[in-house]
Amino acid sequence: MEGQMAKILLVEDDEFFALAVQSTLEGESYQVVLAVNGKNAIDCLNKEPFDCVLCDVQMPIMNGLELARWMKENKPRPLILMTGFAEAVNTKTALDLNAANLLLKPFSDEELLTAIRAIVRTKNQSATPPAGVGEADPQIARESPAETQDQAVMDLIKIPTASLVQGGTAQFNLYKEDSGRMTKLITRGEPLNPKDPQFLGLAYLFTEKSSLEKILNDNILVAKAVAKTRVVDPAKKAKVIEAAIELIFKKAAISGIDQALVKESADLIACYMQTFNDEALWAILFSLEQGPQLIFSHTFAVTVISVIIAHAHQMSIDDCLKAVTVGIFHDIGETKLPKRLIETPWVLLSMAERRQVEAHVTLGVEMLSASQAVRSEICEIIGQHHENCDGTGYPRKLNASQIHPLARLVHVVDDF
Ligand SMILES: [Fe+2]
Ligand SMILES: [Fe+2]
Repeated sequence: MEGQMAKILLVEDDEFFALAVQSTLEGESYQVVLAVNGKNAIDCLNKEPFDCVLCDVQMPIMNGLELARWMKENKPRPLILMTGFAEAVNTKTALDLNAANLLLKPFSDEELLTAIRAIVRTKNQSATPPAGVGEADPQIARESPAETQDQAVMDLIKIPTASLVQGGTAQFNLYKEDSGRMTKLITRGEPLNPKDPQFLGLAYLFTEKSSLEKILNDNILVAKAVAKTRVVDPAKKAKVIEAAIELIFKKAAISGIDQALVKESADLIACYMQTFNDEALWAILFSLEQGPQLIFSHTFAVTVISVIIAHAHQMSIDDCLKAVTVGIFHDIGETKLPKRLIETPWVLLSMAERRQVEAHVTLGVEMLSASQAVRSEICEIIGQHHENCDGTGYPRKLNASQIHPLARLVHVVDDF
């Protein structure tokens, strides 16, 4: 807990890498401010105090070594350099520049957090800053534990209690809302007992949004999935969400689904929309727009309905987020097919055309495997999303025991 609320300036020009590091740090309740090059970082350092600067070496406009030199002379702060080019900066250079650590990319979350904690611990253990690393931050020093807790839980997401409390060990910090205030019930790593009286009567609990995003990003190697992120217009996002919800309501009305369940589903969509907040994920989703519009709206609807059903069956959060990934990518192979084939109802297709449409499964898996966009487990599930339990599906005619539960789920939703 010693590192909570320390403020870190992350200087990194690769937005995907920055996103991954930011998510890891925010998952541990650090405050992160992002700068995209050395010059941008200087502006930030001149504006506000930071406990630590985590800086890439190779950057346009002003690189990390130039920034480190500037900091040494003008604004000494604890510095960690990150580089994928071991030859470009060695330990001696890093030490000369007052760097407290040198992280070689790719590094693990644990290596990153160990390096950060070493600095934060140093800071907390001394009333005055260590020699050569600048003055203490009076703002941080003033914070009481209560204030820290309040700020740390600002970015929370509401999830049904049944999904979060399934026994075993807590994967997330869990909070409950109490008269507008958040109270922490369980810390990540503690044992979870679904029958624990403190969970009784609580339909929803809260957890850090960044923790869910981290799992989602773990399913998708975001950096490789999208060559260039384009920020999606919020109005467009809202329109898509609205359309998906409307579609679900319409389907529900036609199928005569219980209204309470429909309402609960809308709540769940709202929960998961927050996890969709990752721009890179939206960019993947919107890249489907290049293909027939039908694929795009179908994909989105399958994604949200799959998540709702996964929730209703009390699947773990991990599986729910896998359902998100599978939903997004399951029909990506259809982007390789002629638009006419996609838009023609199945019953009107000739046998040869049907075989062509069926090929979207293997085409999709090939696309995803080639781009290494998603993890192999997800590719495997997507490769099974048209298999039937009785062995009549395609492409491999698998039987029930061979089909992944999430592939069966998405298949049912696909038909719905
Ligand atoms: Fe499909
Ligand atoms: Fe589909």
